[in-house]
Formats: sequence, C-alpha cells, structure tokens
Amino acid sequence: MKKISMKGNDVVTTQELSTDEIEAILKLAFEMKKDRYADKWAELLKRKTFIMFFYNPSLRTRQSFEAAATELGGHAQFIEPKAMRLRGLKKGNIEVAGETIHDAAKVMARYAVGIGIRILETSVDNYGDGNKILREYAKHMDIPVINMADDIYHPCQGLADVMGMRMHNNNLPTRGKTLLQTWAKGALARSYCSVHESLLLNSRLGLNIKLAYPDDNYDLPDDIIEQVRKNCKENKTKFELIKGDPEKGYTEADYVYSRNWFGKDFYQIGKEAEIKRATDIKYKDWICTEEKMKKANKDCKFIHPMPVDEDSEVTREVNQGPRSIILDIAENRLHVQKAIMAMTIAGLEMGL
Ligand code: CP
Repeated sequence: MKKISMKGNDVVTTQELSTDEIEAILKLAFEMKKDRYADKWAELLKRKTFIMFFYNPSLRTRQSFEAAATELGGHAQFIEPKAMRLRGLKKGNIEVAGETIHDAAKVMARYAVGIGIRILETSVDNYGDGNKILREYAKHMDIPVINMADDIYHPCQGLADVMGMRMHNNNLPTRGKTLLQTWAKGALARSYCSVHESLLLNSRLGLNIKLAYPDDNYDLPDDIIEQVRKNCKENKTKFELIKGDPEKGYTEADYVYSRNWFGKDFYQIGKEAEIKRATDIKYKDWICTEEKMKKANKDCKFIHPMPVDEDSEVTREVNQGPRSIILDIAENRLHVQKAIMAMTIAGLEMGL
C-alpha cells in the first residue's frame, strides 16, 4: 500500500495534483462522508484557524469551508479584501494604493494554519490575473493555500463533482464513461473556473469528453483545450468538440453538465454586453431538457456546481428531477474540503 502525503502543499488546480493525490483526497472524502462526526476527525484542526479571503461572493464555498473547519475541531475566519487596505489591480473595486500582497500574506501566515482564497474575473482586469494573485499569496506563505475558485480553476468543485459522479456509479471510478460539458444560455455571465476544472479533471480520470457550445464567441482558452486533449490522449479516450449543435452531444452521454460561461471577449465588453448576447433569441435551444436527456444513456445524470439558473441552463423538470445529482455534489464540497484540509494542513496521510 502506498502512503500519500500532502502536508504543507497548496491546492490551486487538480491538474497540478498527481492522480494518487486526487485518489487519496477522494478516498478520504468518502470515508469522512460515511463517518462524518467520528472522533478521529474531530481534533485534526483543534484550536486552529483557517482564514478565508473572498474577493467575490459565495454561498456554498464559504459555508462549506466554515463547516469543514468546525467539523475538524478548528475555526474559519472570513474577510472580504474590500474591507482591508490592499493594493489592488482593478480600479473601482479595490484601492490601487495600499498594503502589498506580500505583507498581507506574511501576516496571515502568522495567525492561521491555512488560507483559502476566492478571486474571480469581476475582481480583475485580465483573464488569469485572479490566478496570478492567488499564486502571489501562495509564494509568500509557508502555510497551505487552497483555491476557493479563481478566474481559471475551481479544484474543490471539480473534486466534489467527481465524488458525486462516483456515488451515482455504485461508488466506482467513472473511467470509460462519457461527460457532455455543454454551454447554456443565461443571464449570469458565468465564470470559466468550474467548467475548466471539470474538463481537466474528468479527462484526467479517463472519461470521454464532449464539449458543446454554439459558436466562436464561446471558445474556451486554447491552453485549457490543449490540456484536455492531451489528458484524453494519455488515457486513450475520446475528445469531441461540437460547435453549433445543442442536441448532438447528448447521444451516449452518462453525465450532462449544462452551464453558462461568458464569451472570450468578456474582459473587454463587460458583463452587461455579455448578458445581452447570451440571452439573445438565437441561443434559445441551448438549455438542458428532459427531451434531450432521453437521447442520452438510460441512467444519464445531470450535474452542475450551482447556483443553477433554472429555465435558462436547465429546465426545472431535469434540475429537480431524478436525474439531478446537484445536491449530492453540493454536499460533497464539505467532504472534499475536509479531506484537503486534513491532508494539507493537519498532515493526515492516506493509504492507496
Ligand atoms: N459552486 C460554488 O462555488 O458555489 P458558490 O459560488 O455559492 O460558493
């Protein structure tokens, strides 16, 4: 049996974890779910503090990290950087002059045993700047930094998705199954991060990937697509890109992940223009419906990271129906985050 140790490690994206580390986190998360309030987990963070920086809003991430810290015997503190005096990158959102990330990071590392950071596209001017800022914090900290969603990646969401997909596959790995990741219309101008993480992680774990979206406006970044292709090639699985057909991808799908994401010029045109475009009548068929799900494999499940834009991304019939596993996935955020904190902060080792 191999012992997997992640003590002191950051978690920025699952793509930077080894497959053993991914499997170790998932194995521990399943154990923690099964035996949620067992004494063996209850003191892993006893009297210790986890700090959370939220540049952007959250429901699930904040509450599940707080619950995770509590269930491990510690405490999570929350702060929005707009309430600090940080030197920011984006005028109008955060002060341009102020304290450096270097100083804030160094001080937080003196108080806490780990830090989580959320920084999405609306807090920065250019694609990737959120991820750069998160890595800048990590550079100056000698405690684990956990990505709570940046403008490229959302590792905890990806792991919670996979855990849910396995739960609904008799708790077995989903290697060989097919995931349809499809763009959906909507008025929320959604981030790339959950979509990227799903594509990267599921291609890594041996699923066939179908990626569907309406047109060139919604191309995903080239480096992400290249990595997904590479992951599929390494696993000898299929990667299919479907442009312009909202139905084709459903055939033979085992999981359908129907979610809006903003266009590739979002950082230039802004949220209002993106919403106007994404709600245009020409995209009316880009919604997950029961009729489309019937074209998929018999037990096909609907997955989504939430919040769901019901009646835009998916009909209520599917979202709240028997195919939907979104609530299990949302619950899994708690279990995977507990597992990540236990392994990276408390140094719990897992045997594989
Ligand atoms: N899925 C997710 O990250 O949800 P929140 O934005 O509510 O945290």
